[in-house]
Amino acid sequence: MKLLEDRIRRDGVVLGADVLKVDNFLNHQVDPDLMQAMGAEFYRQFQDAKITKILTVESSGIAPALATAMEFHVPMVFARKHKSLTLKDDMFTADVYSFTKQTSNTISIAHKFLNADDRVLIIDDFLANGQAVKGLTEIIAAAGATLVGAGIVIEKTFQKGRQMLDEQGVRVVSLARISAFEDGQVVFADEQDAE
Ligand code: G4P
Repeated sequence: MKLLEDRIRRDGVVLGADVLKVDNFLNHQVDPDLMQAMGAEFYRQFQDAKITKILTVESSGIAPALATAMEFHVPMVFARKHKSLTLKDDMFTADVYSFTKQTSNTISIAHKFLNADDRVLIIDDFLANGQAVKGLTEIIAAAGATLVGAGIVIEKTFQKGRQMLDEQGVRVVSLARISAFEDGQVVFADEQDAE
């Protein structure tokens, strides 16, 4: 998606070998027009899939997931990483290991917000090692719901997540695919393909 790639070029900051800072528009300050455009693109890609629910993980997935849910006019549910005072039992849970942060989180979604009739689209901000999406797929399976696909804002093709999801037969749509960081600059997969 050109709008997103342009924004990454303009405002993204490469940190070290494999991290892109996008706090200017995606995961700290949030650009609502960009979210709306991304939601519309995910809708265009999945509109025939009879989606009934959008799932993500707090916190950075929430903005693009909500924008997408507004296009589909279906509920957005975000998995929680922390135990809520009011949500105790009746939760689907999965353990998510973050290679970036080297920590493990239990994510959870209340039984009442996901059921066997649901056709689910996962939306997330980054696809790196795929652990967050994997956790959500486990929860969807436990609920007996149907996973239709995953919409990713920024995929880093040089990390393991995409391959894992391809091997599981999950349909993945990524709006920007980054194949490398070179000298502090982002290289997009479509640029590399064009070479
Ligand atoms: P994975 O879910 O694909 O396995 O990703 P990984 O464990 O590598 O990353 C864990 C966290 O780091 C996730 O956020 C993910 O969104 C984020 N992340 C991964 N790569 C990048 C990157 O290049 N830039 C930025 N800014 N974030 C990245 P999280 O722990 O769920 O945190 P949050 O959603 O509360 O922000």
